[in-house]
Amino acid sequence: MSEEFLLLNPGPVPVTDRVRRAMDEPMISHRSAEFEAIYERAQDALEYVFRESTLDGRVTNDDGMALILNGTATMGMEAAVANLADDDSEVVALVNGKFGRRFARIADRHAQCTRVGVQWGESFDLGVVANTITDETDLVTMVHNETSTGLLNPVAGVGAIAAEHDARFIVDGVTSIGGDVFCIDDWHVDIAITDAQKALAAPPGTSAMYVTGDVESAIGGDDAPFYEDLDWHLRKAESNQTPFTSAVPLFRALAVAAEAIVDEGLPDRIRRHRRQSTAFRAGFTGMGLERFPTAADATVYSNTLTAVELPEVVRADPDAFFDAVAERNVSISGGQAHLGGEIFRVSNMGQFADEQILRGIRTVGEAMVDAGADVDPEAGLDAARGVLELQRR
Ligand SMILES: Cc1ncc(COP(=O)(O)O)c(C=O)c1O
Repeated sequence: MSEEFLLLNPGPVPVTDRVRRAMDEPMISHRSAEFEAIYERAQDALEYVFRESTLDGRVTNDDGMALILNGTATMGMEAAVANLADDDSEVVALVNGKFGRRFARIADRHAQCTRVGVQWGESFDLGVVANTITDETDLVTMVHNETSTGLLNPVAGVGAIAAEHDARFIVDGVTSIGGDVFCIDDWHVDIAITDAQKALAAPPGTSAMYVTGDVESAIGGDDAPFYEDLDWHLRKAESNQTPFTSAVPLFRALAVAAEAIVDEGLPDRIRRHRRQSTAFRAGFTGMGLERFPTAADATVYSNTLTAVELPEVVRADPDAFFDAVAERNVSISGGQAHLGGEIFRVSNMGQFADEQILRGIRTVGEAMVDAGADVDPEAGLDAARGVLELQRR
């Protein structure tokens, strides 16, 4: 009998039965008190996530607010840029992967954008960043955890540079917030964005952002996009509402998923993500594969997803490998854009049991062998088990 379906893509990630059931409740009006109670639960839990994603209990003290958007994180990214920039604004966008590039493309449409770009999968040189951000810079955008390559970028370092020049700082924490450390005040972040279907482990369709108290006065106005007018969203969020019709079942699911994070506690959740991503990396390198990204200086490997190079023999026919994974009832991701056919990616965001992480490693190893690669799945499993055993809580 084939094993249960295992979703290891870096979003959407599996949701718990409780989250799934929340979507199946009778419909209510989005202008009802019941809906407002759901919004408030989600918002309270998200404010915990945005403010307390630390290992040592440190809390961001800020009088800003978390709000929920009827749209995925790309909407949040655009909302943040379009509310803080106009045609004459100077934006510096850091690009070392697909989502950093997305911020730059958004900035191109709304402002004057200068890119600090390195090869996808390479680390930023903070010296170059410091030479590019100037007193003329109005806004800096960057992705914390670059999902397309598996690198955790140095938000703290870039935030310090942005702050020196009084530039606003927008950070995409889509695949870090809820699974890794994130410090809004220490890192000088003005707007942080995350997506429901990543480390929050909710279904896709909504996203959340934290707008700091300091930046609230700078957003909105007649030039703000209508649907994404963040001033309007904030005013509504104050009374647990949205300006437009809310995706009621998705908000319900988000509330349940975010409350599960509160119940687990962020320090434990972050440690769990770090432990399981370390196991993934050990498992893949232990069987003889190479990590894709290059972590240098202040950049480190992602704690929520892992990107691995396809060996030469598999690159000749990547479908044979991905089909062999799918035959084992496991879903993983390939590379995006020009990295298609060069890498694969797996996620440990959400609520995985250690057995599922090991099954992911075994599946990749067996599929590699099927596709003709010279790897040792058992050695990979031993290495991963060693990590999980050593770091057992
Ligand atoms: C880092 C990052 N930013 C932004 C997005 C965009 O998300 P969406 O397609 O849900 O709008 C993603 C999605 O994978 C992501 O990983």
